[in-house]
Amino acid sequence: MLHHEPLIPPRYIYPPEPWRWVEKQFYPKLLVQMETLFSTANGYLGMRGVFEEGSPIGQNGTFINGFYESWPIVYAEEAYGFARTGQTIVNATDSKIIRLYVDDEPFYLPTANLLKFERSLDMQNGTLDREVLWQTPSGKQVSIRSRRLVSFEHRHLAAISYEVTILNAKAPIVISSEMHYDASARASEGDPRLAKGFKERVLLPEHYWVKDRRIILSHITRNSRMTLACGVDHEFETKSPYSYESQCSEDDGKVVFSVDAQPGVPIRLVKYMTYHTSDHFPAQELCERAERTLDRAITHGFDNLLVSQRQYLDDFWDRSDLKIEGDPHAPSDTIELMQQVLRFNLFHVFQASARSEGGGVPAKGLTSHAYEGNYFWDMEIYLQPFLTYTSPRIAKNLLLFRYSILDKARQRAREVNQDGALFPWRTINGEEASAYYAAGTAQYHINADIIYALKKYVDITGDDEFLLNEGAEMLVETARMWYSLGFFSKRVAGQFCIHGVTGPDEYNAVVNNNTYTNLMARENLWYAASTVEMLRDRHPDWFIALVDKTKLKLSEVKNWRKAADNMYLPFDERLKIHIQHDTFLDEKVWDFENTPPDKYPLLLHFHPLVIYRHQVIKQADIVLAMFLLGDKFSPEQKRHNFDYYDPLTTGDSSLSVSIQSIVSAEIGYLEQATEYAKYAVLMDLGDVAGNVKDGCHIAAMGGTWMVAVYGFAGMRDYNGHLSFHPKLPEIVKRLRFPLTIQGQRLEVDIQGTTATYLLQQGTQLAISHQGKDIQLLEGIPVTVELKPVLELKGELIKSSWPSDPTFNPNKQDD
Ligand code: BGC
Repeated sequence: MLHHEPLIPPRYIYPPEPWRWVEKQFYPKLLVQMETLFSTANGYLGMRGVFEEGSPIGQNGTFINGFYESWPIVYAEEAYGFARTGQTIVNATDSKIIRLYVDDEPFYLPTANLLKFERSLDMQNGTLDREVLWQTPSGKQVSIRSRRLVSFEHRHLAAISYEVTILNAKAPIVISSEMHYDASARASEGDPRLAKGFKERVLLPEHYWVKDRRIILSHITRNSRMTLACGVDHEFETKSPYSYESQCSEDDGKVVFSVDAQPGVPIRLVKYMTYHTSDHFPAQELCERAERTLDRAITHGFDNLLVSQRQYLDDFWDRSDLKIEGDPHAPSDTIELMQQVLRFNLFHVFQASARSEGGGVPAKGLTSHAYEGNYFWDMEIYLQPFLTYTSPRIAKNLLLFRYSILDKARQRAREVNQDGALFPWRTINGEEASAYYAAGTAQYHINADIIYALKKYVDITGDDEFLLNEGAEMLVETARMWYSLGFFSKRVAGQFCIHGVTGPDEYNAVVNNNTYTNLMARENLWYAASTVEMLRDRHPDWFIALVDKTKLKLSEVKNWRKAADNMYLPFDERLKIHIQHDTFLDEKVWDFENTPPDKYPLLLHFHPLVIYRHQVIKQADIVLAMFLLGDKFSPEQKRHNFDYYDPLTTGDSSLSVSIQSIVSAEIGYLEQATEYAKYAVLMDLGDVAGNVKDGCHIAAMGGTWMVAVYGFAGMRDYNGHLSFHPKLPEIVKRLRFPLTIQGQRLEVDIQGTTATYLLQQGTQLAISHQGKDIQLLEGIPVTVELKPVLELKGELIKSSWPSDPTFNPNKQDD
């Protein structure tokens, strides 16, 4: 069920283009939304797409991944083990301001007479470009061209080239390049998804200095004591006479260039901006690093930055592009739009993650501080599949981040009276930051989600070293947590039950035996057991090291197996469905008919208790399990479960529709799959959730890759074996994408009635297509027929269900 139609921005202003997101007119109606969509970032540093001139402005923002302020979580009623400290990403010093004055009149977009305006996010060049022709009231025409980038190659560096030419007259022109820390607080206006406002200023000044056209400002956060240095430097070029002045104070700096501009003589300012942050180095040291980054930037110049940016993105697209084609004679531009949006989504995922080294990926990437810039399971379940198959380096970094917080997860497990390690539901620094335990700490499934991503990463990349070095330890500690959390219950013939948890669906909180959690925990336990046994048998030295690090006893491994083999999965024989949790079917079904669209998302209109006592689902839960662990459900169960749960699903979380699309495609509901896919793809550009102004939905964006690859190409990768069951939606005539598997490169090309698989680089790869095994050898394409969907139905559904009658979904796969 979906409650809000995508509102695609008007196409005459935002026309379809394959590689750019373009705005052909200044369009203040979508100002704040576009600030989000035009954001530039590299996974470490992000800047919202606000105009250089500093106004008009909706929500400004400069975010550095992992640079946060902490705050005490105040509970009106205390209880043991509650999370104590919240963490919020800081809106840091804004360094991108460039104000322009002609005849001492400011260039101000809302009132300017614009003879030309175009702004675009160029996804191949990695730049935010703008071209404006402004006619001043006195008839002077001024051309303004700017290019902004946050460098992928140079993690700490961003730059803007700002070119001004007065075309038909001479005039005094002033370009004021500024930086500013805005100490004013913002409140969160009662929406739990937004960021917390701080009463006091967050950044306290440390050092500041100006040297010619260079300014350095440094700050320290009030509570978390993190340090920040922000520096700017400038190149300035013109044949017209000019002078400049620089100044700075603790929160501000500016370099003001005054030019006697001559007609037709260009003025070019290049501004370099650098950010360095730390949780332990003093600000002074960061200032020195900032100086070095700026020295290098000046030496190499802007053009070199452009070249390296392009190169970085060429590599990215080569590994990651999803290409779709439609009927060339079709009258509508739907396919062009979809192609543009798919790339837009992947580009933003890359911007959110590429250089996040040592950190995670915030729910909104670096486009906003909503959700406090915290990391959730979004990373593992929604981003990691895409990253594992296209940018394994990034996937590994995100797993290494989880490993780096393992000690804190151990500590958290102690705090909530469990063994092993419990990863935080939401965090920046590794500590649990969720103030509402029912939808936070209770989401124990985060442990299994991380392990799920870890297993996929190891299966697909073959990076066994990661498994030996870090993975095994994470497995031991997470398995211990599950074993201590659950118990063998007499009520259900001694099966292993897990009580008091919240599954992915936050509209059913603190429940017993959430099927998703139990299934995922079971995989976690099995994988931990088999990994430890593999180490014992094949890598005795690693095994000894693991025992040493974790004090592991083999009896524990036996227990994990016993719990996993006997995991309780609530099932209703009458309806032939899995039950979302023990008492879900006892609840009253939500009155959807009498809930008008403006009452969604329900979380903003109903007390949680009202929601909790109904059969109503925020986001795919069992349906998600049927995707992630599809080989653990029979085809009939998939159909029955979907038919039961889908109508109860509000889609109030942007994480839902992609999964609903993938599962509908698998069970043969192609029309529904296409409809859900539309919502998934347009989540941000079509502002489906109505809150794009507060940042991109990065998980949903990652979900669109899954819709194409797992949904329409029908890929499954249980235990690292790739199988495909392609079935394209009516309007898509061709879908192509590359995958990186064990360092080899596979090209998948689905077109009309055939699919072609080409191992472009590598030696050999075994895959299967519609149930038939195929051996691929390097450079030899294999083209196979697609059986029509109708003919396929029975087989398609069986595909994920081994025909061997002795197969038992309750046993670990080989
Ligand atoms: C969803 C969570 C998600 C979080 C951050 C919530 O609305 O229910 O599953 O992790 O948003 O994206």
